[in-house]
Amino acid sequence: MIAVATASQKGGVGKTTLCVNLAYSLAKRGWNTLLVDTDPQGAVGLSLARSTREKRGFYDFLTSGLTLADVILPTRLPEFSIVPAGQYDACMRNGLPLDDAPRRVADLLRSAELRNVDLVLLDTAAGLSGLTEAVVKGCDYVIIPQQAEPLAARSIPHMLETLARFRADGAAVTVAAILLTMVMTDHEMSLKVARELREMLPPELMFKQSIPRLNSFLEASARGVPVALLKHNPPPEALLFDQLAAELEERIGLTRERDFSHVHSSLMD
Ligand SMILES: Nc1ncnc2c1ncn2[C@@H]1O[C@H](COP(=O)(O)OP(=O)(O)OP(=O)(O)O)[C@@H](O)[C@H]1O
Ligand SMILES: [Mg+2]
Repeated sequence: MIAVATASQKGGVGKTTLCVNLAYSLAKRGWNTLLVDTDPQGAVGLSLARSTREKRGFYDFLTSGLTLADVILPTRLPEFSIVPAGQYDACMRNGLPLDDAPRRVADLLRSAELRNVDLVLLDTAAGLSGLTEAVVKGCDYVIIPQQAEPLAARSIPHMLETLARFRADGAAVTVAAILLTMVMTDHEMSLKVARELREMLPPELMFKQSIPRLNSFLEASARGVPVALLKHNPPPEALLFDQLAAELEERIGLTRERDFSHVHSSLMD
């Protein structure tokens, strides 16, 4: 089993959009995928979950003796499960048990492995301190979404230095790759920044696939679904995440032969 977090110093760069869409693509490709929402503001996947009864989630797991089975929610796609953020306010009344967070994150990942999960994708809140530090340090890989904007050339080195510090602290996390997000394909400045970043950074550090800024992503995230499920027929941009999933599989060595015959084409009725 492989654990992949997404993280960024800045908010609103497309982490959650990435997680929801990538997790869906990976599940459709046959991998048992668990999407975990560690962002207290997050509402990842609740609209995908088959049951809205339980609202317990990651924060409940973190602060109590609950098991993964208590907080995991199935979706209509058998390969895709979700751990929502849960009851952050109720759980945090006694303060965030930061000292204990690394152990609970490790417990969660171990339990996922025992349930034959192939890949855990963890969405995080913006920033790399506090709980997000514990989450990222507990993962094998991190994906860094980066908006194609003028200050990107400065924020990427900062992010890489922070991750290098995590490794110096003993964490095994490595960068899966940087993902260019919200690229405005009709905007010369955005395209120029994207080009310059690709020139500046080694190719192995960047996903070949980038994600354009499109209204359909905005609409899909407002409804809490992957863009592939927005309409009856998936729009062409849904394929971008299939492409990204294929690239990620290669980068992290998720290549085991699997039986795809049972994969469903849609989560929705
Ligand atoms: N490729 C895209 N095209 C258009 N809108 C997008 C795209 N990606 C994300 N968005 C929109 O931008 C906003 C921020 O995206 P998202 O929530 O994925 O970012 P985030 O990094 O998770 O934010 P936060 O740090 O607040 O958790 C959302 O409204 C989302 O719908
Ligand atoms: Mg988010």
